Amino acid sequence: MNAVSRGLSRRLMLSRSAAVVGASSAGLLLPEIVRAQGSKLRVGFMLPYTGTFAQLGVAIENGVRMAIAEKGGKLGGREIEWFKVDDESEPSKGVENAQKLVQRDKVDVLIGTVHSGVQMGIQRVARESGVLNIIPNAGVLAATRGLCAPNVFRTSFSNSQPTMGLGKPMMDKGLKKAVWITWKYAAGDEAFEGFKESYTKAGGTIIKELGLPFPNVEFQALLTEIASLKPDAVACFFAGAGAAKFMKDYAAAGLQGKIPLYGSGFLTEGVLQAAGPAAEGVYSALHYADSLDTPRNKQFRTAYAGQFKLQPDVYAVQGYDSGQLLVQGLGAVGGDMSNKAALYKALETAVIDSPRGKWTMSKAHNPVQDIYLRVVEKGDNKVVGVAAKALADSGAGCKLG
Ligand code: PHB
Repeated sequence: MNAVSRGLSRRLMLSRSAAVVGASSAGLLLPEIVRAQGSKLRVGFMLPYTGTFAQLGVAIENGVRMAIAEKGGKLGGREIEWFKVDDESEPSKGVENAQKLVQRDKVDVLIGTVHSGVQMGIQRVARESGVLNIIPNAGVLAATRGLCAPNVFRTSFSNSQPTMGLGKPMMDKGLKKAVWITWKYAAGDEAFEGFKESYTKAGGTIIKELGLPFPNVEFQALLTEIASLKPDAVACFFAGAGAAKFMKDYAAAGLQGKIPLYGSGFLTEGVLQAAGPAAEGVYSALHYADSLDTPRNKQFRTAYAGQFKLQPDVYAVQGYDSGQLLVQGLGAVGGDMSNKAALYKALETAVIDSPRGKWTMSKAHNPVQDIYLRVVEKGDNKVVGVAAKALADSGAGCKLG
């Protein structure tokens, strides 16, 4: 009997009466033990596979699969059965889609999602069902603040974390008056919170907030307004295909090189080829940069590019770290999902050796991590420096830990 089955049979014995313990020692419970260990772990992806965030979903899934494959392709010794739902970044279907995985497919782990509004649906289903939820992107503050839960862990960021890194570098360059522009939904509005806090604290003034509904990309009228406002800089949140379009339109409107463009770093993730020269000179703050000069990052990038014939981006890293977190957590309990206390403890205390740099979980289950300032040069996100060291989200309103 190996250590895992010893642990499992001990737990089974503890949960049964003395008479059954007798049966167990006589070997009568063996089939049950074998079943518990031998059954496949059911892992569901709820991600966008269509729409403006489609590429983000694919990068996340690739990263998860790669991290688990690197450790033998199993979790806690159990083989994996995969399930997938395309959430279309559609908040109104968030609950229904999460229930497809939880109720219909009976997943043990739900990995999702990208869009903050859709995450609110997952959050509800996770809190009600108790299913383990790993958030590989969506930064909605409530997920690790007021609506935090023992079974919900985020491996990405909170929406205000990246933009907390923007204010000081902008003011250091003498950019004292800024216009903010974003998609008007949780991710954009909460990214604004981080920008506002860091920029006004450094002495900057936000002269105008502009917005358009997600995933609208009709930027023209807003760019005309920016030109007439003549701010020292523009700061923004956009991501995915819409981000590439925004940078192209910004350049086409004659603003590139005239009014410096800053962004929550998603602006330049996974879209540098699509944006082309329009991305040159764009500054942004994020918990990752392609060019991080560490052996860990280089090894990850080479392996990912080799496997998927694609350059990895922050989404691939977040997926990879979700996989790494699951490897550690399920490893600690020998694949026994019913041992919740030990599983959550292992996830809470994990140190993730990420391509972004090592990070840990806050009490509210959100990464404590460095934020890098980057600039696009010759089609690459170059690291300029660390904009915020070991930055934690406030976790306000979360009673965990
Ligand atoms: C979000 O909706 O939380 C979101 C989406 C895409 C990003 C970042 C945040 O790149």
